[in-house]
Amino acid sequence: MAKQDDQFKKVISHAKEYGYIFQSSEIYDGLSAVYDYAQNGVELKKNIRDYWWKAMVQMNENIVGIDAAILMHPTTWKASGHVDAFNDPLIDNKDSKKRYRADVLVEEYCAKIEAKIEKEVTKAAKRFGEAFNEKEFLATNGRVVGYQEKIDSILSRLARSLENEDLDDVKALIEELEIADPISGSKNWTDVKQFNLMFGTKLGASADTAMDLYLRPETAQGIFVNFLNVQKTGRMKIPFGIAQTGKAFRNEIVARQFIFRQREFEQMEMQFFVKPGTQKEWYEQWKESRLKWHLSLGMGAENYRFHDHEKLAHYADAAADIEFKFPFGFKELEGIHSRTDFDLSQHEKYSGKKLQYFDHESKESYVPYVVETSIGLDRMFLAVFSNSLVDETLEDGSERTVLRLPAVLAPTKAAVLPLVKKDGLPEIAREIIDDLKFDFNVIYDEKDAVGRRYRRQDAAGTPFCITVDHQTLEDQTVTIRHRDTMEQQRVKIEDVRGIINKEVDMRAWLMKM
Ligand code: GAP
Repeated sequence: MAKQDDQFKKVISHAKEYGYIFQSSEIYDGLSAVYDYAQNGVELKKNIRDYWWKAMVQMNENIVGIDAAILMHPTTWKASGHVDAFNDPLIDNKDSKKRYRADVLVEEYCAKIEAKIEKEVTKAAKRFGEAFNEKEFLATNGRVVGYQEKIDSILSRLARSLENEDLDDVKALIEELEIADPISGSKNWTDVKQFNLMFGTKLGASADTAMDLYLRPETAQGIFVNFLNVQKTGRMKIPFGIAQTGKAFRNEIVARQFIFRQREFEQMEMQFFVKPGTQKEWYEQWKESRLKWHLSLGMGAENYRFHDHEKLAHYADAAADIEFKFPFGFKELEGIHSRTDFDLSQHEKYSGKKLQYFDHESKESYVPYVVETSIGLDRMFLAVFSNSLVDETLEDGSERTVLRLPAVLAPTKAAVLPLVKKDGLPEIAREIIDDLKFDFNVIYDEKDAVGRRYRRQDAAGTPFCITVDHQTLEDQTVTIRHRDTMEQQRVKIEDVRGIINKEVDMRAWLMKM
């Protein structure tokens, strides 16, 4: 656990030091759980968004994109159920006066038991060596089975109590497990209460006539209310999808873990409209397809797992999360939900407008069913960034910190470095930049010894360094150094673009899907 905490702290400080993420309004001591993307962060975020958009919209003939407004008619949120049911159970500690999500306190208790399981697995793997079978060990080791049973029983009681709105039982569970305030250690808790997560705002200048609005807590509703507009104007035939990326806002009670849970964040969502009765097939297909997208980035298949929901929201007939191994353990990265016709039917009911599809083949009208894929862009950023940050001991015993970002996502693709600041080398470096900048983000760096400059670019995540030296003056060749292997090649200047392109071109990465 301490090792995980240290790694996470390193991720946060590295993100600041290398211009990826800053605390919002830092000079005023910051705003809790709100972050700014810095010069490198904004590029990485954009590249992730583009990678998603291309895979979703450009590569699927039957998926189109929209960009709906953040502010929507307030009835939207009544219809969607957010006004009545978009709540988190909160609990206050009477001594520390700190507020927590009751379900998160219980889940964190279970995560501690899960850490014990992981410790047992590591110990056993060491003891048994090559012969170790993790699956069998998890299923048969008495202590581990006991831990797992405890986790299952706690989580299923929590899910039952939340579903039945039995908040007294959630409090009873916290007390029975003797969960203490993580900060003060006090077990003096208030009752559990529901808290709506939507941020309210007002539309209009005069206090009497202003309309109460909400900042959207998910982008999906902008898609649902536009379903028929898009279907008609795009002459879309079912099955088809509408994709969107954009900001969402939630007044999270427990907004910790850096950009994992924020109050202002960005989602990348796609609603896939299907014929009723076919949703199960599409749900399975989208689960598979989304996992392939993740795996195409090469961040290790062992770092992903599905968590199929047993308890379903009243409008869903199937739901699963793709979980990723963040520095603090496996957590939800993306959700795939089979949402039935709930949302469209609700909007029909509240708007009085028909939101139906006429099927020319079967000559029938119906409200389509929806399979949704929903991923947090910031969470994906954290997954990519934390997975890429490694400390390495090199063959000569020296250490380096390297940000092994998938090259396709790296903010800067190459740094061009004149070996010295004289003899015409800076001018050639500038010429190379002037050529490459039409295709890639490239930077110039002439400060410090070249070895230090390499290290700086390794830590910033730049996949290539191009060094201009005195030989360049003679034969128009440069050294190109690869971030991950540190291998250096002597190549002609005219070949540099092709070499970089081969590794960063989105096409090659997407073809792995
Ligand atoms: N339309 C479905 C929907 O919004 P969700 O599970 O509430 O479902 C989808 O959110 C995804 O949005 C999550 O898997 C997560 O990646 C991201 N997300 C949700 N709340 C977030 C928050 N407070 N901060 C950052 N990302 C968040």
